[in-house]
Amino acid sequence: MQVTDRVIVSPARTVSGVLRVPGDKSISHRYALLAAIADGQTTIANYAPGADCASTLACIAGLGTIVSRTSPSHDADPRLVTIEGRGLRGLAAPPGPLDCGNSGSTMRMLAGVVAAHPFVSTMFGDASLSRRPMRRIMGPLAQMGATLTALPGDRPPLTVHGAALTGIRFAPDTPSAQVKSAVLLAGLQAEGETTVIEPASTRDHTERALTAFGATVGLSGRTISLSGGQRLTGRPLVVPGDISSAAFMAVAAAALPGSDVSIVHVGLNPSRSALLDVLRRFGADVEATVDDVLNGEPIGRLRIRHGVMRDLVITPDEVPEVIDELPVLATLGTYGGSVTVSGAGELRVKESDRIAELVAGLRAMGADAEERPDGFQIRAGARLRGGTVHARHDHRLAMAFAVAALGASGGTVIEGADAVAVSYPGFFADLDRLAQGRDAGIRA
Ligand code: S3P
Repeated sequence: MQVTDRVIVSPARTVSGVLRVPGDKSISHRYALLAAIADGQTTIANYAPGADCASTLACIAGLGTIVSRTSPSHDADPRLVTIEGRGLRGLAAPPGPLDCGNSGSTMRMLAGVVAAHPFVSTMFGDASLSRRPMRRIMGPLAQMGATLTALPGDRPPLTVHGAALTGIRFAPDTPSAQVKSAVLLAGLQAEGETTVIEPASTRDHTERALTAFGATVGLSGRTISLSGGQRLTGRPLVVPGDISSAAFMAVAAAALPGSDVSIVHVGLNPSRSALLDVLRRFGADVEATVDDVLNGEPIGRLRIRHGVMRDLVITPDEVPEVIDELPVLATLGTYGGSVTVSGAGELRVKESDRIAELVAGLRAMGADAEERPDGFQIRAGARLRGGTVHARHDHRLAMAFAVAALGASGGTVIEGADAVAVSYPGFFADLDRLAQGRDAGIRA
């Protein structure tokens, strides 16, 4: 289904079926970036199909890396990406500015890669990315020896004058996997040891990916360290399905009575699966089975069935591990059981101000929703009527509104729905397939 700017979501009684979600966005970015500075060839199967991960490929191609998405045989995975590594500090000066599109992960992590290269790189993005803060990576990368400049307020475009770097010991104020990764990627190419001490655990895909490419990474609680100068070896890799994409279907299954959804070939990395504990607390019946470990990443099956619906409180210490799932978890408050989130001020600097826009959208559909400085409360009891909402060019808001819309009494128009192309281009087609029943349907 070609997703248009405006999608109408009709109510659904239930969702059920078996689904495979697209490749993980976070893991795909990391595999592509590490492949570019590895020695030899890397193949990445099930590479994330969205625009964000395409931005990362375009950027490494702009830095002289040969990237191909074609496959030699007809039945090969169409999402197979082949990257010819240029070796540590082996990238070439880009002929012009690098377009990171909507992707904060691309800009922040790539900054760590180019900081160690002796040339100037300028990275820019779309209107949303141009509003996002870069100070968090500019500080540590400057401390390592690079020179970074941005617009006032440390907003993109971001220009990095790369240099010979020295390892640092760095303790970020805000938990952020992107910041941790930028520093580790720079540290890999720096002189000496680099250590990151996290204020709270965040997704650990960079650590696992570095190990898969042959590097030695020291882990002790929330302290991660690595020695600079370790060379990476290109290799065949497979990306698990994205649990953050699966989250939309999982929440719909938890919310709609009679639902039973299974998601196969999905990543079950513990630093990403806190969502499952939250759904269990809400009252859903959640089964998670690890079938295999691919390149250090656990992969398996999820089965989610509707259960009782309890009030949900998400506390500040839980926030970093469910940060991308908070918009869709909020929609549980529109089905039964209130949802209260605090300590999530970071949501205001995502692809949109996800606190303000989420509350505004859910209210427009009839929710009893309150915006708070660092979170929100969605109070149980108000059945949604549907209406018109705007996704504000934010993929996760478009998908969260669609999940809320399934439970409304009337139809919901989602403006800006084409934002789903950033992480899950087939989202509406997949949701349509799961939403059984005559009155269920999604028209683009
Ligand atoms: C990501 C880290 C998180 C997350 C983003 C992807 C990553 O951002 O919200 O969608 O792949 O490292 P922060 O590092 O800003 O918390």
